[in-house]
Amino acid sequence: MNKIPMFWNVWIIGLTLTVIIGLVIILHFTRKMKGDGEPDKTTGHVFDGIEEYNKPLPKWWLYLFYGTIIYAFLYIGYYGYANIEGVAKWSSAGQLAQEQEEYEAKFGAVFTEFNNTPLAELANNKQAQAMGEQIFRNNCVICHGVNKEGQSAYGFPNLTDNDWLHGSSAQQIEKTIQEGRRGAMPAHKESLTNTQLKEVTEYVLSLSQNDQKPKADMVIAGKEVFNSTCAVCHGEDGKGKHDFGSANLTDDIWLFNNPNLELREDVYFTVKNGRKSQMPAWGKIIGEKKAHLAAAYIYAESLK
Ligand code: HEC
Ligand code: HEC
Repeated sequence: MNKIPMFWNVWIIGLTLTVIIGLVIILHFTRKMKGDGEPDKTTGHVFDGIEEYNKPLPKWWLYLFYGTIIYAFLYIGYYGYANIEGVAKWSSAGQLAQEQEEYEAKFGAVFTEFNNTPLAELANNKQAQAMGEQIFRNNCVICHGVNKEGQSAYGFPNLTDNDWLHGSSAQQIEKTIQEGRRGAMPAHKESLTNTQLKEVTEYVLSLSQNDQKPKADMVIAGKEVFNSTCAVCHGEDGKGKHDFGSANLTDDIWLFNNPNLELREDVYFTVKNGRKSQMPAWGKIIGEKKAHLAAAYIYAESLK
């Protein structure tokens, strides 16, 4: 039987005894206070039109209260003895430990087996997918949305489209989820003039189908800026590179497209100020085995 550390037992018992003794004292003094004998007199205390009678406590209530106090003393005595000596058949710590053991016995082997199975195989395993979905629901939906659409908040990628910042191979997805990712789009407000920032924004808008009608004269100048400054990370063609986690700028899928802003303003803001979105390292948070199953779930989704 697992014991709760002594300190907490003493702490709980001490706290409970203080409260009970406090109650006894209050009860003792209020009992001594005699009613003034006039049955219809109030204390003079009015709240919201409600008045308070000045009457002694009814006897049955008083004895019931004493009864619960005696019970509390007996119970706390038993609790202290049983927990400190560890002789009780039941303790909350014991129950938790037992449930954990049962859980480990039931699922531990399954987790270990799945952990040694590659994602490609788990993609067709119903049980692994169900577990992965549950893990996704518990940990990922706040950022990526219930349907993995990343709509819960601005700046979180949709995981159901075929646009991947960091790549969709089994290995890349596993790494993304186990180790986390950090988007590293540098700010260009120091290195580019405001005219250059505007020009390159128009060029970026010209790369995809969108409703912004890029200004043709600026697009040409913007292309030069792009080739000298942005192509290292986004590629000459602007399609992005998974190794950098740099966005594909040629599809009309945007990580940063605030519904309240024109896309032009958002792109300009991104280029000027940079972006640093962060995907946490789940292997460290929920453990490698669970993160592996979440990866299996996302990987299966990427194949659809
Ligand atoms: C706190 C918010 C947050 C939570 C929670 C979160 N993510 Fe992410 N995730 C992000 C952000 C932000 C990115 C984009 C990182 C970047 O821009 O490089 C991302 C990126 C990803 C990517 C890469 C997408 C791509 O296009 O390459 C995958 C896969 C992913 N997350 C899966 C998960 C899974 C599985 C979970 C749950 C175990 C999870 N995420 C929980 C914020 C979150
Ligand atoms: C050091 C590599 C690097 C350089 C240089 C770079 N980018 Fe980026 N860019 C990124 C990364 C990484 C992201 C994704 C940021 C994130 O996920 O938080 C990104 C994101 C973006 C986005 C947001 C896309 C979206 O889906 O919302 C735009 C627009 C963009 N970059 C344009 C540019 C332009 C224009 C330049 C040149 C002036 C440039 N980038 C230079 C790495 C780079």
